[in-house]
Amino acid sequence: MYTVEELQNLVEKEVSKRSADLLKQSPVELYQPIKYSLDMGGKRLRPVLLLLAYNLFSDEIGNAMPAALAIEVFHNFTLLHDDIMDKAEVRRNEPTVHIKFDENSAILSGDAMAFQSYKYLVECKSPRLIETIELFTNTAIEVCEGQQFDMDFEKRLDVKEEEYLEMIRLKTAVLLACALKGGALLADAAPEMADALYKFGENLGLAFQLQDDLLDTFGDQQTFGKKIGGDILANKKTFLLINALEKASAGKREELLGWIEKTDFVPAEKIGAVKAIYVESGAKKLAEQKVDSYFNEAISILDDLALQDVVKQQLRKLALKMLTRKQ
Ligand code: IPE
Ligand code: IPE
Ligand code: MG
Ligand code: MG
Ligand code: MG
Repeated sequence: MYTVEELQNLVEKEVSKRSADLLKQSPVELYQPIKYSLDMGGKRLRPVLLLLAYNLFSDEIGNAMPAALAIEVFHNFTLLHDDIMDKAEVRRNEPTVHIKFDENSAILSGDAMAFQSYKYLVECKSPRLIETIELFTNTAIEVCEGQQFDMDFEKRLDVKEEEYLEMIRLKTAVLLACALKGGALLADAAPEMADALYKFGENLGLAFQLQDDLLDTFGDQQTFGKKIGGDILANKKTFLLINALEKASAGKREELLGWIEKTDFVPAEKIGAVKAIYVESGAKKLAEQKVDSYFNEAISILDDLALQDVVKQQLRKLALKMLTRKQ
C-alpha cells in the first residue's frame, strides 16, 4: 500500500513533468497560464483520492496516473473559470489566472485544460476505460450545473437549505466522488465497491464544501490562500447565510437583508457585520455540525466497505486531513 504522502509526491512529480511538457508547445500564451495554474500547488486531493481508491484493488498505480493527472487538470480548469465568475483575485496566495494574465487567457487556457484532461485520461490502460470516461463526462456536466445554480442563487433570497446542498453536491462533491469511483473502475473493482466509494466521496465532498464556505468567512487568509469574505461580498447563498436568515432575530435579519441589498459600502464593514450575525444566530455552529455529520456518514460508509482495515487506512487518514484542514 502507498501512503498519502507517497502518492502526493508522485502526483506532484507527474504534474510538474507534464506541465513542463505542455509549455514546449506553441502558442506559449495558451500554455503559460496552464503551467502557472498547475505549478501553483494546491492540495492535489482529487488525484490522490483516485490513486488511493485504485490502490485498494491494485498496486500498479502507474496505470492510473494519467487519470489522476486528468482529474487534477480538470479541477484546475474549473478554478480558472470559477475565479472569473466569482471575481476572485487571489488563490493559493498568488494572483488568479485572469489577474496574472487576462480574462480571455483564463477562458481559453481553461478550455484547453478541459480537453487536455481527456487526452490524459485516454492514456490509461484499463478494460473499463469507456465506463470511466462516461463517469468523468457526466461529472463534468454536473459540475457545470452546480456552478450555474451557484450563480443563480446569488440573485435570489429564498434559497432553501436543500437547494444549497444539491448545488454543492453538483459543483464540488461529485468530482471527489468521481475520483474515488474512477480509481475503482480503472482497477476493475466490483460494481458495489465502486458505488460505495462514490457515496463515500459524495459525503466527504459535501463536508468539504461546507468547510470551504466556513473557511471563506472564518479562515485565516494567509493559510487559506484565498481572500476572506469573498462569499459574503458576492451574496453567495451559503449554508451560513441561509441559516442566519432563518434563525436570526427579526432585527438582525433586517440588518442582514440590508447588507445584501446595499450596493455602496466598505467591504470590511459588511464582512465584519455579516460574520457577527453568523456567529450570534447560531448559523456557524449549525454549519460546523453539518460538516461533522457528513464526515461521519462518509466514515461509516468506508467502515462498511468489505475490505481489510489496513487497506482502508490511508483513505481514512486523508479524509480526516480534509476535515481538519485550514487551507
Ligand atoms: C477548491 O478546491 C474548490 C472547491 C471545491 C472548494 P481545493 O480546496 O481542493 O483547491 P486546491 O486545488 O487545493 O487549491
Ligand atoms: C468551487 O466553489 C466549485 C468549483 C470550482 C467547481 P467555490 O467558488 O467555493 O471555490 P473557491 O472557494 O473559489 O475555491
Ligand atoms: Mg464559485
Ligand atoms: Mg470561487
Ligand atoms: Mg469557496
